[in-house]
Amino acid sequence: MKKIIWSLVSILILTSLVLAGCTAPGEAPAAPQAPAGDGGELAVGIVLPTKDEPRWIQDETRFKDALSEAGYSVEILFSQGDPAKEKQNVETLISKGIKVLVICPHDGTAAAASAEAARAAGVKVVSYDRLILDTEAVDYYVTFDSVAVGAAQAQYLVDHATGSGHPLYLYAGASSDNNAFLFFEGAWNVLQPKIADGTFVIKNSAEAVALQDKATLTRDEMGKILGQVTTNWDFNVAKNLAEANLTAAAAEDKGEVFILAPNDGTARAIADAFAVDTAVTKYWVTGQDAEKASVQYIIDGKQSMTVLKDVRTLVSDAIKAAVAFLDGKVPEQTHTYNNNVVDVPAKPSAVVTVDATNVKEAIVDSGYYPASDFTGLK
Ligand code: BGC
Repeated sequence: MKKIIWSLVSILILTSLVLAGCTAPGEAPAAPQAPAGDGGELAVGIVLPTKDEPRWIQDETRFKDALSEAGYSVEILFSQGDPAKEKQNVETLISKGIKVLVICPHDGTAAAASAEAARAAGVKVVSYDRLILDTEAVDYYVTFDSVAVGAAQAQYLVDHATGSGHPLYLYAGASSDNNAFLFFEGAWNVLQPKIADGTFVIKNSAEAVALQDKATLTRDEMGKILGQVTTNWDFNVAKNLAEANLTAAAAEDKGEVFILAPNDGTARAIADAFAVDTAVTKYWVTGQDAEKASVQYIIDGKQSMTVLKDVRTLVSDAIKAAVAFLDGKVPEQTHTYNNNVVDVPAKPSAVVTVDATNVKEAIVDSGYYPASDFTGLK
């Protein structure tokens, strides 16, 4: 009996030693060990614009996947569409000792102050997807070819319009986002000759009509059009604007219509508004981002196309750029983008047009999303 009690006491003592980290009295406990294969902290902080749009959740997920595979851990913060919160996020990361900041600004100009604060602290600044404007303090720009995105959207509309006099409804992104101008520029390059030759007739922007004979628009001219057709990247703004446009339009401005919608979230909102108008017999609507909800809309015939911007590529380019800077090197450059102050080095990535005819191949067979995320896929 004594033996049994003694064994139990020994087990208890041993267990408590193990739980206490086996430290002798007065000795500091051992630091927790990183799990095997964990390369530990990468001196990089990531700031993304908002959790309210699936696009940026995609980026967060893809960053997490890529980083855990590479064995790095970094902090990802969201700014919720608020430049003040964004600045605070950057300051938090600087105070934690990051050496590289990867930031997708909510507002390109407002983010200049954050970029400058980072540079002043010796941090390299990588502008992610959206360009930070009006400052020298941007070291690199990781991006897709945004002019090509707009061109792909417009080309899709052109490719599906035979004959002439088709009603065209234009929508754009937020004026605070430099990409909104690049997308619109790319679309205008392709649409304008088809407006000039009568294939399309613009129905929802007097400013665009006033400029329709100009093959190339200045930024100010695009700004005037955006002022009338911006969605502000907001689903509700998009829905309300589409409804207002449909209310103002006469029956002859409807029938089979062509809609340039700037991204997937706004495309779904705009498509829903057009779908319930009984005078609209058919609509073609563009998008971008290959958000899951829009892939499903494409399968269901409710959205015509999206532009796949493979976020895995963008994330991998951002990580490569960060690692290059940490190693004292410079990332690969094929292009520059002027941000009103400097030409920022970049290596833009290609994009892919996706519609019902290639959705399975481009989205599922490519491994971008599993088939089980969708219904009705053929
Ligand atoms: C991005 C798009 C996104 C949009 C709205 C743009 O800057 O390039 O992918 O849909 O912002 O968040």
